[in-house]
Amino acid sequence: MANRSLKILGLAGEYRATSKSGLLVNAALAAAEDAGAEVVFWDLAAKPLPLVGEEGCWAHPNVKEFQDLLTECDAYFLASPEYHGTMSGVMKNTIDWMYDKHVGGKVFGLMSTLGGVTNANTLNHMRIAVRWLHGWPVPEQLAVGHVKEAFDEDGSLRDDNLQQRLNRLVESVLSATNKLSA
Ligand SMILES: Cc1cc2nc3c(=O)[nH]c(=O)nc-3n(C[C@H](O)[C@H](O)[C@H](O)COP(=O)(O)O)c2cc1C
Repeated sequence: MANRSLKILGLAGEYRATSKSGLLVNAALAAAEDAGAEVVFWDLAAKPLPLVGEEGCWAHPNVKEFQDLLTECDAYFLASPEYHGTMSGVMKNTIDWMYDKHVGGKVFGLMSTLGGVTNANTLNHMRIAVRWLHGWPVPEQLAVGHVKEAFDEDGSLRDDNLQQRLNRLVESVLSATNKLSA
């Protein structure tokens, strides 16, 4: 299958796979894995990235490992919580460790989680940052509002419409990645 050679990295703008953004990005990774891709989730709780600019950050071993992984991967899923109308500081700091030489010309799928009503602020702001890195965010995107009620105990999305939007986002990322690597 064409997707088998693709390696996709999932990043959440919160700590742990059990955070709401962690659940969302892992749902996208699971769908990509079902479609034949190799997937990996970077958990900031296990491997924190220092704040860009803090003492010792440039030589931090997690930064090198993260940037090597970015280089290895063909595409990325990003899911951030919306904090005060934009992406979390954790997601922005994660993006700040990416450079064109790691992710330029590669595909991104963007998602957000919100405590309140769905809007596209965080998605739009991440889209701008990814564009600055010469990445290719696909047009499909997903914002999950009222996120506290959005997931079952097993981490699956309760709303079928949202799950279908997630599936279309994943298909779009895989198809764009295959086209760009052809
Ligand atoms: C500092 C902070 C600011 C927040 N700002 C917003 C906001 O502007 N809009 C909104 O819908 N939810 C907001 N929330 C709620 C988060 O979006 C929600 O907690 C997040 O999507 C993830 O859920 P979790 O914390 O249960 O993992 C905020 C939460 C925090 C901690």
